[in-house]
Parts: sequence; structure tokens; C-alpha cells
Amino acid sequence: SLRRARVLQLTLAVIKPDAVAHPLILEALHQRILENDFLIVRKKDLIWRIGDSERFYAEHEGRFFYQRLVEFMSSGPMRAYILAREDAITRWRELMGPTKVYRARYTSPSTIRAQYGLTDTRNTTHGSDSEESAKREIAFFFPEFSAEQWLEEEEPCFR
Ligand code: TYD
Ligand code: MG
Repeated sequence: SLRRARVLQLTLAVIKPDAVAHPLILEALHQRILENDFLIVRKKDLIWRIGDSERFYAEHEGRFFYQRLVEFMSSGPMRAYILAREDAITRWRELMGPTKVYRARYTSPSTIRAQYGLTDTRNTTHGSDSEESAKREIAFFFPEFSAEQWLEEEEPCFR
């Protein structure tokens, strides 16, 4: 399991309410995860209260988009995944593309945000941006999850 632990990296990926609201987009994003050789470690559908959004995005408090972001993220169901892969954090962020949808469309038209994003706030997906944030964000969405236990007990087999 030590060898696997070095190869596999975990990240938190979220399909935001704008994308979950459209079943075809939700399905396309789920396929995109599988096509890119991520292992789906956990998957959960949930709805946030305003307080959850505020806590999750506390680092952005005071930014011009904060209120809009917090309200949007609590506006409907979303889907959270723990994903495993080599370089999972970077690979998922590459697949999502730039935060701002119009920049994404201009610079990286094949990314998820370019293809499905509506606005800079309603931009379809979230992904952890570092190992530290992945750890915090996985615990935020999946408090019952233990990476160590997962490696020990579920013997993730990797293609
Ligand atoms: P940020 O962490 O900068 O982007 P990312 O999601 O790519 O890590 O911002 C968090 C979210 O805040 C972003 O996904 C959407 C929202 N946001 C806006 O609505 N407007 C903006 O100008 C920015 C930078 C972010
Ligand atoms: Mg971020």
C-alpha cells in the first residue's frame, strides 16, 4: 500500500448546481471522469445550506463575487467525488479549464468549463488546487472517509 500511496493522488471534484440541473451534462461529466482514467473512490449527491457554502469558500470572503458564489452553491443539488489517479489534482484542474468561462472558451475550448460553463460563477465544476486543499476539501464533503483505511481495506486496483 505504500507503493500505491505514492502513485495514487486523491482530489475532490464537485459538479456544481448549474451542471447537475441538466441530466445530459451531468452524465457527460461523469463519463469525462471515467474516460480520463480516474478511479471513483466515493460519490455523493448533496445540497448545501448557505452556511456550508460560506465555510467552504471562506478564503474568498470579501471578494466581489463572494455573495453570488455562496448563494449559487446553495441553490440546488450538487455531486461530489473523491477521485484517485496519478497527478489527480492537476489532471482534474486541467480538464476543468480556467475559472473564468470566457477565458476558458478563448484559451482552452475543449475543457469542461469552456464547453458547459454559463458564467464565471456558474462554471460547472470545482477541483482542489493543492494536496493541502484536497485533504481539507475531502474531509469537508466526506468526514467519514479515511484515505489510509481506503488504501488498506479496499485495495484500489489501478489500470
Ligand atoms: P477560484 O478558487 O479562484 O477558482 P477555481 O474554482 O478555479 O479554483 O474561485 C472559486 C469560485 O469562485 C469559482 O469557481 C467561481 C467563483 N468566482 C467567480 O464567480 N468570479 C470570479 O471572478 C472568480 C475568480 C471566482
Ligand atoms: Mg479555487
